[in-house]
Amino acid sequence: MISPASDHLIVALDVPTVEEARRLVAVLEESVSFYKVGLELLFVGGLDLARDLRRAGKRVFLDMKLLDIGNTVERAVSNATELDVDFLTVHGHDLKTLRAAVAGRGDSRLKLLAVTVMTNLTADDLAEQGSTSTPADLVLRRAELAYKAGCDGVIASGQEAAGIRAATGPEFLIVTPGIRLQGSTTDDQERVMTPDHAIWSGANHVVVGRPITQADDPKAAALTFVHHIREALAKRGAGGTRPH
Ligand code: C5P
Repeated sequence: MISPASDHLIVALDVPTVEEARRLVAVLEESVSFYKVGLELLFVGGLDLARDLRRAGKRVFLDMKLLDIGNTVERAVSNATELDVDFLTVHGHDLKTLRAAVAGRGDSRLKLLAVTVMTNLTADDLAEQGSTSTPADLVLRRAELAYKAGCDGVIASGQEAAGIRAATGPEFLIVTPGIRLQGSTTDDQERVMTPDHAIWSGANHVVVGRPITQADDPKAAALTFVHHIREALAKRGAGGTRPH
């Protein structure tokens, strides 16, 4: 069955309180079926919100970006499987952490996504850390590690999606934040892409936060993104030309 275009949109609930997040979810209604709960809400009831979203039939991406020694990561992921969420992130710096996360997931339905290189980082930011890689090279290297470790997919910018898809095959999930419509503000994001380009380049899901959560009419904004995704999926399916 072909999934509806809205399944490919994940709205990042980056708002200060769960009350605000619940209001936003009510406003977005059926336009959004997949939500990301991240660090901002974690300490103020984010996990209860995640449970409630699941009970309401929404899909949930828990963006915890885990990074620790293998034993701790494995146990944390194992406990997270109890939440019955759909996606969980772990930092994809090394094979040991990724393998531990995969062991912790066991045979649960939780999909593990490795964060490659944050979308707000540039080549200069990597050079500052002592890395001589470009973001694109490091993303690809880390995506290959995630694939080798048995992760279900990666978080990367849309700019790297095509390279990852070519290196990993059709089943590997590519989830892309840093999504902006043509001509709109990029906020603090650096490696940005339009939803059309990201989907066309092979992304399975686009993650959108502020362009929807801070819009005057969040539902209309979400529907605009779904429209762009639908058009890109149709073009991708038809083997069409890259959108501009
Ligand atoms: O508001 P905006 O659309 O920029 O939000 C992007 C979301 O994606 C944020 O929740 C951020 O934490 C997340 N994210 C990211 N880059 C990554 C991984 C996650 O921007 N590499």
